[in-house]
Amino acid sequence: MCQIDPADRSREDIASVEPMRARRSCLAVPGSNPRFIEKSRGLATDEIFLDLEDAVAPDAKEAARKNVVGALREGGWTGRIVAVRVNDLTTRWTYRDVIEIVEGAGDRLDCVLLPKVADASHVVWLDTLLSQIERATGLPEGGIGIEAQIENAAGLVNVDAIAAASPRLEALVFGPADFMASIGMRTLVVGEQPPGYGEGDAYHYVLMRILMAARAHDLQAIDGPYLQIRDLDGLRGVAGRSAALGFDGKWVLHPGQVDVVNEVFSPSQRDYDHAEMILEAYEYHTTVEKRGAAMLGDEMIDEASRKMALVVAAKGRAAGLARTTDFVPPPSA
Ligand code: GLV
Ligand code: MG
Repeated sequence: MCQIDPADRSREDIASVEPMRARRSCLAVPGSNPRFIEKSRGLATDEIFLDLEDAVAPDAKEAARKNVVGALREGGWTGRIVAVRVNDLTTRWTYRDVIEIVEGAGDRLDCVLLPKVADASHVVWLDTLLSQIERATGLPEGGIGIEAQIENAAGLVNVDAIAAASPRLEALVFGPADFMASIGMRTLVVGEQPPGYGEGDAYHYVLMRILMAARAHDLQAIDGPYLQIRDLDGLRGVAGRSAALGFDGKWVLHPGQVDVVNEVFSPSQRDYDHAEMILEAYEYHTTVEKRGAAMLGDEMIDEASRKMALVVAAKGRAAGLARTTDFVPPPSA
């Protein structure tokens, strides 16, 4: 008989690998557009963020704040991460964005998304302001998280310090459109390879750099938008690239993009089943058989296999996958 307690130790391990909620799909919704806000409530994204930055015209920013507070108070996104993107720190809007949103609806907010983070001081500024507002309004201190957008050369060069700048940080988010403009990349199609570059992937270094900083500080790594909203094959290709490296999710700009992105950032059923099998087999062999390396079918598994399996199992569980196969221990000798 198998001696493994199914309330396994891997659940605790999973918390250490993936302590955050899933962010496979993060929907951008202009804070100035009540129709889009209403529509977003019915979409199956893991996160929704109401935008006060680039999707809102300068003259509409102040009205958008009130709109966003009203929408947050109304709610309707149960089970999803709810964030607001404020304007970046070079503008005249940021401080009032944060104060109005958090004073008005901080109890309905999971995260503030800060764009164009160029160095750690941007995050420290937001952390301090959030703490002051939380203290003044009686919100739990440290309760509101931060997502930092890396979308210019300075941000990428400083990404390690940015990732370490606040315990509120939950995710680093690549902003490809602003980033491409910042470095002078010669294309207008966000996320696609610049013509003339040849065979390689022009984004590999950037994505890896962000991913390393995120992982070194236990943060999630999120890829930015794909603007060709009707080209779902293109989206699948671009999303597949960052998912393959290990990114946790990607922005979506349109309802039509949601299913593709959720699918691309979830493990396949086969990989999920396999990961759970590895965890159970490893648990059985180390605790019952007291062996550090063992066979699962034709596959040799050890502690490193367990760590890889934890990552896939955590993503599968967060995505709501259910197992379709069980580990059966070998008959006792
Ligand atoms: C998103 O903000 C981007 O610049 O791509
Ligand atoms: Mg941007």
